[in-house]
Formats: sequence, C-alpha cells, structure tokens
Amino acid sequence: MFVRMNTKAQINSDAGRLRVGMVGMGMIFDETYRPFLETAARDGVFDPAIGRLDVELSAVASRTGSRAEAYRNNAPSGHAKFLSCVEPNAVGQLLESDVDLVCIATPDDRHFEAARAVIDAGKHVLIEKPSVLSLAELDTLVDLAKQRGVLAKVVYHKLFDPDHKKLRTLVVDDVLQHVNSGYCTLLEPKQISGSQFSEWITGRNPGTYVAVHYIKLIDFTFGGRLLSVSCTGQRGIVGPADGDTWDSTQLRMVYGYGDQREAAFDIHTSWVTPDNFPGYVEQEVQFRFDNGVWNGHSRRRGVECTVEGKTPHEMKISMNNHYNGTFVEPFGPRSQRGYGLEVLERFIREVAHVEFSGEAADRTTRLEQVRALTYNDLAADRQVVATVQAMEEILKRHAAGLPNCTVEVNAEQGGLVLYAPGASQPEVLYQPAVSQDAG
Ligand SMILES: NC(=O)c1ccc[n+]([C@@H]2O[C@H](COP(=O)([O-])OP(=O)(O)OC[C@H]3O[C@@H](n4cnc5c(N)ncnc54)[C@H](O)[C@@H]3O)[C@@H](O)[C@H]2O)c1
Repeated sequence: MFVRMNTKAQINSDAGRLRVGMVGMGMIFDETYRPFLETAARDGVFDPAIGRLDVELSAVASRTGSRAEAYRNNAPSGHAKFLSCVEPNAVGQLLESDVDLVCIATPDDRHFEAARAVIDAGKHVLIEKPSVLSLAELDTLVDLAKQRGVLAKVVYHKLFDPDHKKLRTLVVDDVLQHVNSGYCTLLEPKQISGSQFSEWITGRNPGTYVAVHYIKLIDFTFGGRLLSVSCTGQRGIVGPADGDTWDSTQLRMVYGYGDQREAAFDIHTSWVTPDNFPGYVEQEVQFRFDNGVWNGHSRRRGVECTVEGKTPHEMKISMNNHYNGTFVEPFGPRSQRGYGLEVLERFIREVAHVEFSGEAADRTTRLEQVRALTYNDLAADRQVVATVQAMEEILKRHAAGLPNCTVEVNAEQGGLVLYAPGASQPEVLYQPAVSQDAG
C-alpha cells in the first residue's frame, strides 16, 4: 500500500506494478525505451528485495501523435493499449491518467516544462540527458521534487558502459591516481543534424547534446570542483557561418581538487560527420593520471564487419554491441539488450524500491536512500548543468559577435560569472554557489 505524504506523491499502482508515461516518441524512444518496455512488459523486471515487477507503457505524449500511432500499429500484441496525448497540453492530459512515473525524451530545450509538470503532479520523473539547460531550472525541479516526495533522475547511460565502470573502479581503488588532464570526442553523423533533428536544430549545438555524456563521466568519476568553462565552435554546414546553429564545438573544463591541484578536460563534438563513416558515432577518450594513462575507443574495442550492399549505410562496419544490440540468444529467443537499456531498468527498480520494498511508514527513508545515488539524481547534476549553461551562454555571445568568453565558477561575484574580452565588468549568470562545498 502507498503512503499519501503531506506531499502530492500520487503513486496509485498495486504493489509490484508500475505504469509508465512517456513524453517524446522520437529516436531515443525507439532505440532504448521501446525495447526495454516491451521486454519488461513481457518478462517483468526482477528485484531481489521485491520479486517480480509488472511494468507497462500506459500513456504517451508527443506533439502530433503520428509516431505514437505508427508504434501502436507495429507494437507486439498486448502493447498497443496506451493512451496517446497530443498538443496542445499533451503532458497535462498524460498526467490526468494513472501513470506512476514519467520518462521525458523531448528535445533538450523542452525538458524543463514537462519535468516540472510531472513532478508537480506527484509522479517520479526520469529525464533524458542533458537534464535541463540552466541551474535556475535545476533548482526549481530539485526543490519541487523534495516538496512532492518523488524522485527526479537523469539518464546518463555511459556511466553503465563496462569500460567506464572499470575506469571508475580503478580510480575508486586508487590504482589510477590523481587525474591531470584528458580529452574526449563524440562525433555524430550528419543525418542527426540534417534530418533526425532538423525540426529543432536551429540555435542548438552538439556540445549540449552529446558532450554532456562526458561532462558527467568526468564529474562523476573524478569528483572535484568545477573552476572554469570555455568553449568555441564552427558553423557553416548546418546553418549560416554567422548564425547561431553550430556544426561542432570544443569545450574546456578546468577542475580543482582538495590538494590544490587542477586538471583540464577538452571535449570535442560534432554532428556533421559524413554519413558513410564506418561506425554510427565516433567516441574516444584519454585520461592522464599521476601514474598512468587510460585510452578508450568505443569502435576499436569491438568488431569490424563488411556486408556487400549494406555497409556502411544500412549497417555500420564497426558496431557497438555493448550499448544496445539485437541478438539471437544462445538459448533460443531474440533479445535487445545493453547498457542503454540497463540504465532504464535500474530507474524502474529505484522507483520500486521507494514504493514497494518495505513499510509505508519508511517510504521517506527509502526515498532518501535512492536520492543519495549521485550517478543519476538531479540534485547531483549541478556541475554538469553549470557547464551546459556556461557553454550555451558562451556560444550565444559568440554567435552575436563576441567570441572567446569564459565562465568562472564560484567566483567572488557569484556561482557562474561570465567574462567577455574587453568588457570592464563581468556578468553574473547565476548567483548562488555551484558546488556544495564551495562555501
Ligand atoms: N541517451 C542517449 O544517448 C540519447 C540519444 C539520443 C537522444 N537523447 C536525448 O533524448 C531526447 C530526445 O531525443 P530524440 O533523438 O528522441 O529526439 P526526436 O526529435 O527524435 O524526438 C523528440 C520527440 O519529442 C516530441 N516532442 C517535442 N516537443 C514536445 C512537447 N512540447 N511535448 C511533448 N512531446 C514533444 C516529438 O513529438 C518527438 O516525438 C533529447 O533530450 C536527447 O538529448 C539521448
């Protein structure tokens, strides 16, 4: 049985059953949520403390509903009963249904309004990366989630990549000691900017879209305090060379650690890589430590396969079978699995832990336990969102004819302070301190 706290937490499922609401039915729904939800509905999700959880896609919200209907027409039998809500007020309609939790996979500048409505309605929320685009938005969601007694989490599936888990394990165990510097690169194909996102690409940049994976990896793996952010980029392919839509970006973050030492990280991203690139995306990292070097390359860890007439367009030559692969299992059935789906299952189990794994009177204790998981809690996303906000503001000024701004974090004047070349006064973007320990 569920507790009705002095909050608006509205969970009303039977014990062991969770009804999922989905906002946004685009590419990432199709890649990860759809296969996860279909498998979960068929086989259940198992948690050692709870047993079997029944999970069903109960309602979806999107702009026009066309992709929801396309999915309904192709969904496996028994999966097509969901309510489809469309604009205007698609999210409002969805929240009037009996969903217990809502996943938000809309374009990144539309996460905030939907997430606020979901939390305000007393439902748990999982938001695709980047969670939100400013610290003011983050503060609003974190405060509201506390008031309403629900979870507010963000999807960072790269933390579930076995290679990144190993990196962090070596850091936690002090085998790799004190990071000094590093670089990461993630290059998306032109089809992302040219067709997949053409509807919402204007004024956007690939840094916010994908560098955020590595911003979180660095923040979560190495800890420390964010000190400064700088960024530049290129234009002229997706939009005009003097416009505000970016082809590629180069971001630099500087972190400080308790021993007065610093590390710098460069993250290069693009969404104009030729579509005949041998892999779907290019992802490479290098981190240098006092006593070692970590090199990771997501394509070169894997296989190369050439098929006449198919590669590298319909099929890619190098594939990431760890993220999200379709397989015929050795024991018979077909499956779709990988860390892109595992991260969603984990969130379902976290909601189930709060709602089902003990006495109603102890719900608040369980809620706090799950909120303490810093890998996905919105409250622990501060330095990531600070970097995203700084990058967005720097690129906005660059597009307006003022390149090479830098943002200092936890400066004398405020939490996020922008310095423009030639300006006599800095501009405070966010007043409160960014990192909790910044004082
Ligand atoms: N985890 C990952 O690796 C990964 C990969 C791709 C995308 N993403 C994230 O997922 C999100 C969506 O990306 P996508 O590739 O699926 O985009 P997409 O453009 O393919 O789909 C967006 C969906 O949102 C819906 N939508 C737009 N505005 C809406 C609104 N106001 N209310 C309700 N629905 C609305 C559209 O109808 C569409 O169904 C982005 O935040 C992106 O960063 C994550």
